[in-house]
Amino acid sequence: MDYLQIKRVNSLSGNIKISGAKNASLPLIAMIILAKQSVTINNLPHVADINTLLKLLSNLGAKYERGEHVTTVDTTSLTQTKATYDIVKTMRASILVLGPLLARFGHCEVSLPGGCAIGQRPIDLHLKALEQMGTNINIKAGYIEATAPNGLKGCDIIFDKITVTGTANIIMAAALANGITTITNAAREPEVVQLCEVLDKSGVKIDGIGTAILKITGTSGKLININEFKVIPDRIEAGTYLCAGAITKSELTLTDVNPSHLSAVISKLEEMGSKFTISKTSITIHPSNIIKPVKIVTQEYPAFPTDMQAQFLALATQAIGTSIIEEKLFENRFMHVSELQRMGADISLNGHVATINGGTKLSGTDVMATDLRASSALVLAGLIADGVTDVHRIYHLDRGYDSLEIKLQNVNADIKRLKE
Ligand code: UD1
Repeated sequence: MDYLQIKRVNSLSGNIKISGAKNASLPLIAMIILAKQSVTINNLPHVADINTLLKLLSNLGAKYERGEHVTTVDTTSLTQTKATYDIVKTMRASILVLGPLLARFGHCEVSLPGGCAIGQRPIDLHLKALEQMGTNINIKAGYIEATAPNGLKGCDIIFDKITVTGTANIIMAAALANGITTITNAAREPEVVQLCEVLDKSGVKIDGIGTAILKITGTSGKLININEFKVIPDRIEAGTYLCAGAITKSELTLTDVNPSHLSAVISKLEEMGSKFTISKTSITIHPSNIIKPVKIVTQEYPAFPTDMQAQFLALATQAIGTSIIEEKLFENRFMHVSELQRMGADISLNGHVATINGGTKLSGTDVMATDLRASSALVLAGLIADGVTDVHRIYHLDRGYDSLEIKLQNVNADIKRLKE
């Protein structure tokens, strides 16, 4: 198993090119199940989760060719409709094949994803919406057996809670359904917006893109022509490197980024004292002498993302004063706290709320990554901790960060990947 060894740096400097967004790529790859021909995707990130989903599709009979920048996926030869436990257990987002498989074949089986490190993460809202669309759902021996003998039918779906993959799944199901599906309380994340835009350009009429009410006119079972597209930049990767700039008080420039997707993150960093120069596709963070404390509540887009909570918590350990971070989306997403405490951070947890008394000196030690974003928080802490920080179990990190140590080495970080 690999681990990362990080030594304290005085400061970072240079440019970091942001990769394509993992969370946009996953539904976009699943969407290709709806295509009637091979589809070319640009800018897929080189991260483990993407390989997992491509492997899942290939197990079902699809073909793909993965290049450095360009990937082609052909699902015309896809005949199997069972997404098995061995793959789904490694990546919960495999549930994204449920909607498109059902829409194309009228039946499928997908292993239940189960809980994960950051909480229970049910999929009841996905299933309830599919039932409304005319699907019989049977949960048997750990699998969702879904059949829609008369095809999926458009209907009005109101999500009780905003769900990102739930919205994506239903958009893909609705794309081939009979009639119009209206989704109320839809997720508005940029990743969902891109899925809608690509489908809309492929002949599936979608009204309300980017709003909480989506109206999708299905093709009545006809597969669609999907033109080549480019995945949007990864706003969470970008946010993580902005935190790297802030915590090390460095000047860093991110390129190939969409600043408008990062408004909530930039605004919190400004509250903490950072200054920015922003162009259409780049962001430069300028060093600040002092990091100020902050109050953060994680919420759905366009509010502050839960996927940036761990990184800001690491940053708050260096603020002069007390920060409060409230996690509203996932019940168990503070596992990085105990690792940061072991490095000397002064953090107390009360249910969903972390209180961080900043300004403590962190010391490098052995720490364990517990989930994807928690891993990057430990890397950020390692950049400013005295001595050596060894971050173990970085397979979590490899799920979602493309070449993290190389990108950080290029801006003068002292970080290397080693074998246990
Ligand atoms: C997606 C992102 C993940 C991010 C999360 C919240 C992907 C691949 N992953 O995860 O990085 O942290 O959005 O922004 O895009 N819920 C239910 N029932 C459901 C579905 C969700 O109760 O059927 C709850 C969840 O437990 C959670 C909340 O709704 O409390 C939001 O979850 P959801 O938006 O579905 O997260 P994911 O799509 O799994």
